[in-house]
Amino acid sequence: MCGIVGYVGAQQANGRALDVVMGGLARLEYRGYDSAGVALVTDDGLATAKKAGKLVNLTEQLEAHPMPPATAGIGHTRWATHGAPNDVNAHPHVSADGRIAVIHNGIIENFATLRAELEAAGTRMTSETDTEVVAHLLGGAFEEVGDLTGAMRSVAKRLHGTFTLLAVHADAPDVVVGTRHDSPLVVGLGEGENFLGSDVAAFIAHTREAMELGQDQVVTITPDDVSVVDFDGAHVEPRRFTVDWDAAAAEKGGFASFMDKEIHDQPHAVADTLLGRTDTSGRLVLDEVRVDEAVLRQIDKIIVIACGTAAYAGQVAKYAIEHWCRIPVEVELAHEFRYRDPVVNSKTLVVAVSQSGETMDTLMAVRHAREQGATVLAIVNTHGSTIPRESDAVLYTHAGPEVAVASTKAFLAQITAAYLLGLYLAQLRGTKFPDEIAQTLDELRELPEKIQAVIDGAGRVREVARSMADASSVLFLGRHVGYPVAMEGALKLKELAYIHAEGFAAGELKHGPIALIEEGQPVFIIVPSPRGRDSLHSKVISNIQEIRARGARTLVIAEEGDTDVLPFADEAFFVPRTPTLLAPLVAVVPLQIFALELATAKGLDVDQPRNLAKSVTVE
Ligand code: F6R
Repeated sequence: MCGIVGYVGAQQANGRALDVVMGGLARLEYRGYDSAGVALVTDDGLATAKKAGKLVNLTEQLEAHPMPPATAGIGHTRWATHGAPNDVNAHPHVSADGRIAVIHNGIIENFATLRAELEAAGTRMTSETDTEVVAHLLGGAFEEVGDLTGAMRSVAKRLHGTFTLLAVHADAPDVVVGTRHDSPLVVGLGEGENFLGSDVAAFIAHTREAMELGQDQVVTITPDDVSVVDFDGAHVEPRRFTVDWDAAAAEKGGFASFMDKEIHDQPHAVADTLLGRTDTSGRLVLDEVRVDEAVLRQIDKIIVIACGTAAYAGQVAKYAIEHWCRIPVEVELAHEFRYRDPVVNSKTLVVAVSQSGETMDTLMAVRHAREQGATVLAIVNTHGSTIPRESDAVLYTHAGPEVAVASTKAFLAQITAAYLLGLYLAQLRGTKFPDEIAQTLDELRELPEKIQAVIDGAGRVREVARSMADASSVLFLGRHVGYPVAMEGALKLKELAYIHAEGFAAGELKHGPIALIEEGQPVFIIVPSPRGRDSLHSKVISNIQEIRARGARTLVIAEEGDTDVLPFADEAFFVPRTPTLLAPLVAVVPLQIFALELATAKGLDVDQPRNLAKSVTVE
């Protein structure tokens, strides 16, 4: 939540600071879009501009009132926590003497105490934010220690809560200082210029060389240097990495929205996540393992922790991992896990699934699990983020940058990575023969083409979605792996189209939800393969008949060639034949497209739905 950009580059003077910062904010706007602002260090001191609403409002203000050229600057796009999203509360906030500007992502939990202390000493607050408190504290600390890095260190130690902070000083035209505690900050390394950002998207247009900043560290960037110290001033050598996305991956590439583009990216996201997963002997490998394989062999329980869409990916993982590895798998929302005294010990493997790698609820659950002695494995999309750094093992999804706030391609990549994890554990524990693992991998490798076929053949889904722009409620039913798909379909529709939508386990219908069915109620039903086991297919066909008899309009997602559904489907959308456990990768795609198209027909902003932010870095 909140996007943060910092830039310094003396040789690129005359306005580049503003361009770089605004460009970075455009790429980070998915993190928050309640207001935006910038601060530049100019020849005449600090210049600031800020505006409520989306970034475009700030852009228009800057066109009307251009800012002077500068070599260093910071920028912020806000998801409001303390104080309404208006011009005054927008960041940056400035110290009482007007010499220091600061931006912030996170929540300062002891801000009321600090504010009272400042006010008692005569400081006048102009905003309702916790961030302004930091600006004034920095002003006072700078007077004492005489440099911005030292001032940041001394203030950071006084703050409780979560924060990424960036600051500039009017007297230091070639310095930006940043710090982080439980909020993300990465460093971009350029030539004669350096960058700071909430994530690498902030500077990917300028450099792919980056550096992770650890917990409780302070970074000082100048055009030619990056130096990092801990809160006590001891020098730290951070880990460097090269970003494997390019700038084009974070652009719309001719699509009307990032979401549409990211849906079209899905065949690649799955294919790339499958790439390079075996060693020279053909055995599956993880990306980073800081735990003994013997520990993984002794695991007797897996708990998947995640939030939202990532948790639905976890639910799909449960079916596959239990089936392949015969280990019990629980799936739990990270925020519930953290606060319920879960039964976790050294034989528990906790799998944390997160696109951003920064979701605070998931991060807190990871820490809690490790404190209880569990081994934590992260399935994460964003390199340089906190969750993989704090985990014992990592499996990266290679979905590329996901910019639209609603998750699509990351979901498919997370499911793919979860299958890989299941197969890896099956290999390690010998619960599947190597040739069975190889066969499932081959089936997985066929998925990108099948997903592409669903996208290419989605014309009717789009038409139906457009015709339903006035719908006030849509229900989704599924069984087995179709159940999390149903819930994901409902979530996409809620968040994009602001329509009441609910996903149910089809078997649960007659235990209550069937009371919702009335004449014309649209219901999506995800039908399992007729080739699957346990007569699941015929059970779901019966469920369709039950709701149709009560007036439901049935929108059926079924496997190609499944003519059994036709007599009961008001609309049938077919997806390519796929083994049951892998079917979510194709079945969810029509539901994503449905939500996108319906929301577009309603004239809504599908990339930035109301009230949401992509990276939820507060609990
Ligand atoms: C829904 C969506 C969210 C995220 C959730 C977890 O479309 O995007 O539900 O899935 O906030 O985010 P990550 O995966 O970054 O931990």
